Amino acid sequence: MKGVLFDLDGVIADTSVYHFQAWRKLIKDHFNRELPDELEVQTKGVSRADSLTAILNYLDIKVTDSEFNKMTEEKNDVFRELLASLTPANILPGISELISELKAHNVKLSLASASLNGPYILEKLELINTFDAIADPSKVAAGKPAPDIFIAAADAINLSPKECVGIEDSIAGIKAINSSGAFSVGVGNENELSEAYLLYSDTSKLSYEQINAAWKKHN
Ligand code: BG6
Ligand code: MG
Repeated sequence: MKGVLFDLDGVIADTSVYHFQAWRKLIKDHFNRELPDELEVQTKGVSRADSLTAILNYLDIKVTDSEFNKMTEEKNDVFRELLASLTPANILPGISELISELKAHNVKLSLASASLNGPYILEKLELINTFDAIADPSKVAAGKPAPDIFIAAADAINLSPKECVGIEDSIAGIKAINSSGAFSVGVGNENELSEAYLLYSDTSKLSYEQINAAWKKHN
């Protein structure tokens, strides 16, 4: 295992919930409607626009292109407000330890997040200098579940996806890792992430030795 391609929201930090909180506020303000918990899974890992499309489809609401764009901007403003108080304390359990192990074994770290806020969040978590590369989601042709962002993240550390492991908490993300050719590690619910090659219930269980051994066996 020469590289690890990290998802951000829900893997490195507990910022995943902020996204859905921001969507909830936006939908309440605009349409006075509530979003059910079950909808969150459809917005995880996918781009801002794809998230809003899923939400509007669920609500059976149609908006004009300019309203749509205004809503994605407004959602991001709410999300950024929620991020304002982010500190290294928001790094999920086990992640700092895993990063230290990876560094000790000369494994390269690359960010494969769909979020345009990735660099800002890594800065607030004081992890920006820890990463060897950050793939730019605005430069890839298709978002997760397409493999593009994982291929770009591997490429940014001069590796092929086969030499890498991807870590994800979303269904779209696991599908993206698998079709990129990297080895997928899921963090979360077994029913949701059944396609992951290796699954952990939460980040505190992530183990460098286990992941490396599973990657080796797979290749
Ligand atoms: C992913 C989140 O990491 O980033 C999604 O899981 C989000 O919920 C996506 O839609 C895009 O994020 P942003 O910050 O560009 O709106
Ligand atoms: Mg995620």
